[in-house]
Amino acid sequence: LALAASVALTPVAAVADPAGCDPNEERLVFSHITAISGHPKGEAAASFAEVVNERMDGRYCVEVFGNSDLYTDGPELFEAMLAGEVHFAAPSMSKLSPFTPRFQLFEIPFLFDGPLHAMEFFNSDDARRHLLSELEDDGFYGLNFWSNGMRQLSADVPLRGPYDGAGRTFRVQASTPIINRQIELMGITPKKLAFKDVHDALASGEVQGQQNTWSNIYSKEFYLHQAAVTETNHTYLGYVFMTSTRFLDGLDPQTRREFVELADLVTHERNRFAYELNQMAREEILYDDGIVIRLSPDELQKWRDAFAPILIEFRDVVGSELLDAAMRINA
Ligand code: LMR
Repeated sequence: LALAASVALTPVAAVADPAGCDPNEERLVFSHITAISGHPKGEAAASFAEVVNERMDGRYCVEVFGNSDLYTDGPELFEAMLAGEVHFAAPSMSKLSPFTPRFQLFEIPFLFDGPLHAMEFFNSDDARRHLLSELEDDGFYGLNFWSNGMRQLSADVPLRGPYDGAGRTFRVQASTPIINRQIELMGITPKKLAFKDVHDALASGEVQGQQNTWSNIYSKEFYLHQAAVTETNHTYLGYVFMTSTRFLDGLDPQTRREFVELADLVTHERNRFAYELNQMAREEILYDDGIVIRLSPDELQKWRDAFAPILIEFRDVVGSELLDAAMRINA
């Protein structure tokens, strides 16, 4: 991916030091875009910082900047990682599709029956070989996969069927061909917006709908500006917890192993809470008088039918081998 050389990097030193690092410790920056607490990614990033700061005390100090306080998860993040200004990040998988188009696999609607199926797939050798390790050619190292959950659709009108929002404009994250196609199949115009701008765009009516997980819809208050959220569970939102090869290759073998092991430990401990955090966010939305549309099996089938062309059209983009491996998980 060619990154624009003109992208201005926010000087890290200009941001407050929330972790209170000691002067003798090497300061490492974790940049992410979601809420900090009550969110699968926010909590996993905080756990990673906590465990590094405890176990590698006196040597390293990880500071976490969430809520897009430092960067969005767009090209400027990747540029900052390659420049050695950001050491850790966890962008959603499809934001990595400019490096490896196969990451779009997770955007194929109804490919996974639920979040546990997606997690079983990303823990497989197939996913590690074809996805994580592919990033190394671009200067990144995929430490592990972090889970969020299934995406739901919301709009300024209740979406019971796949065409109920036709004629509108919906926010999409990284403009990958599969996401755009999914939205277009609903008769809707996709508009790419950074996550940090979604709330205001919904509030002003610049876009009239969006898709995201319960934890994102709740923590960023998207539901307050929507008529209802439809429980489609149609695609899976997960993350690649990553660092740069520049950082990792600069470490002695023992220290490198320590980082990789702590990354695995946190992944193992936090991924199992992702489902629960999303269900809690769903409950909070209902508690706050948000409307959740539950679909009958017949209604859900209409959504499946509407999105069915995507699997056929994008088989070559994600590759038959990986796609078949993903589909076998549901069996
Ligand atoms: C989005 O842009 O909607 C998501 O990728 C946000 C996130 O990182 O969970």
